[in-house]
Amino acid sequence: MKPSLTLLALLVAGQAGLAGQVLAGVVSLRGDLPIPVTEPAPAPYKYVNDKENIPRNFEQQPPLVPHTNEKYAINLKENGCLECHMKGPEEDEAKSVEMSESHFLDRNGNKLDRPTGTRYFCNQCHVPQADAKPLVENSFQSAALK
Ligand code: HEC
Ligand code: HEC
Repeated sequence: MKPSLTLLALLVAGQAGLAGQVLAGVVSLRGDLPIPVTEPAPAPYKYVNDKENIPRNFEQQPPLVPHTNEKYAINLKENGCLECHMKGPEEDEAKSVEMSESHFLDRNGNKLDRPTGTRYFCNQCHVPQADAKPLVENSFQSAALK
């Protein structure tokens, strides 16, 4: 029995050493704080609000929102985004681009006269932008789109 116990002990020690090495490179974005400690929330970022469309990075990317979006409610009764992005007889003074056809097709491909349920919560896919430093450095390059 004794030799196999020693082997087990060696194996456990080996695994722990490996895990320790992997974790050694991980640095928490919160700094060296124990988990129960809370920090005051950082000041909110200001969203870009210039209405110029932001180039897309890859095909089928939901375009980024080039304006603030906090004041447009999306709930059971109203959807503020539709006031400008919904096709309709009323003129939209902001001259915003309409949602594409895809937003009016249900999952069976039927054409609806309102945005389909899966596209109702716009900010699930379309997000506003802030001029913020990336939290983690990365070498992302956008696909060359025509
Ligand atoms: C007061 C009118 C108005 C409202 C309300 C509004 N937008 Fe916009 N939106 C614009 C204008 C103007 C533009 C820039 C021109 C364009 O591309 O339509 C724009 C652009 C966009 C674009 C970029 C389109 C592209 O092809 O690059 C997205 C995505 C978008 N809005 C999403 C939203 C979402 C989501 C909401 C609700 C949270 C919203 N908008 C509410 C006026 C509006
Ligand atoms: C499930 C993800 C998703 C949701 C939810 C969604 N969209 Fe989109 N949206 C996309 C994608 C992907 C595209 C680009 C491809 C396309 O046009 O279908 C797009 C394109 C757009 C465009 C640009 C159209 C063009 O011709 O340039 C507008 C404007 C837009 N969406 C507005 C909205 C609004 C307003 C809502 C909420 C009512 C909404 N979207 C909900 C994914 C989504």
